[in-house]
Amino acid sequence: MRLDKFICKSTELSRTEARRVIHAGEIIVNGEIVTNEATQVHENNLITLAGRRLVARPSRYLMMHKPAGTLCSNVDGVYPSLFHRLDIDRADDLHIVGRLDADTTGLVLLTDDGRWSYHITHPDSGCNKVYRVTLRDSLTPDTAQLFNQGIRLQGEAKLTLPAQLESVTPTEVLLTIVEGRFHQVKRMFAAVGNKVVSLHREQIDQLRLDVPVGEWRHLTAEEVMSTSGQP
Ligand code: URA
Repeated sequence: MRLDKFICKSTELSRTEARRVIHAGEIIVNGEIVTNEATQVHENNLITLAGRRLVARPSRYLMMHKPAGTLCSNVDGVYPSLFHRLDIDRADDLHIVGRLDADTTGLVLLTDDGRWSYHITHPDSGCNKVYRVTLRDSLTPDTAQLFNQGIRLQGEAKLTLPAQLESVTPTEVLLTIVEGRFHQVKRMFAAVGNKVVSLHREQIDQLRLDVPVGEWRHLTAEEVMSTSGQP
């Protein structure tokens, strides 16, 4: 990870304060003064500040049940940020793994581990995201096959990757996708002439949402490992 991030993860310093001590030449990495905050370091490196070895706090992994009318953002906008519900130390260090729209409900993952979130969100990882979708119009018989073949979203050249559609009722479906393009589910149904009325993410890979609306919990080490074999 970057040196400034490492300093934040191993001290109580903010990112700005971490950069100040780095620029001041107070950080020594494996015996050498390092003044570039972007230097890549490993947790096994011997990194000291004022002669004391710094040890990074372990990464954190959470699931939250996002209510409708909240924003997957660190700051408030038209709606309040999801972060208001996170009664946890240093919540600002966490980021959301694959945002949901303000009106979408369901499973949101949060972490400070960039590698883990990259793995979950990157389409090449093949990490499944399962959405329960309520539709305005009944599902047409060809939609599952079209979604499986790939859909051309408005304004995009590249087809969507194969998606699986399971009908629950004529107007309720479970859709499994591996990508996370902007408004992807809503745009997929728009592309076949339908409209999403409500959207709820209930699963990411092996992780099924199991906390009440608005609440959160830490993931277990097994859950973190099982999520696409990372970290
Ligand atoms: N697809 C959407 O259209 N919206 C979301 O919030 C998530 C996936």
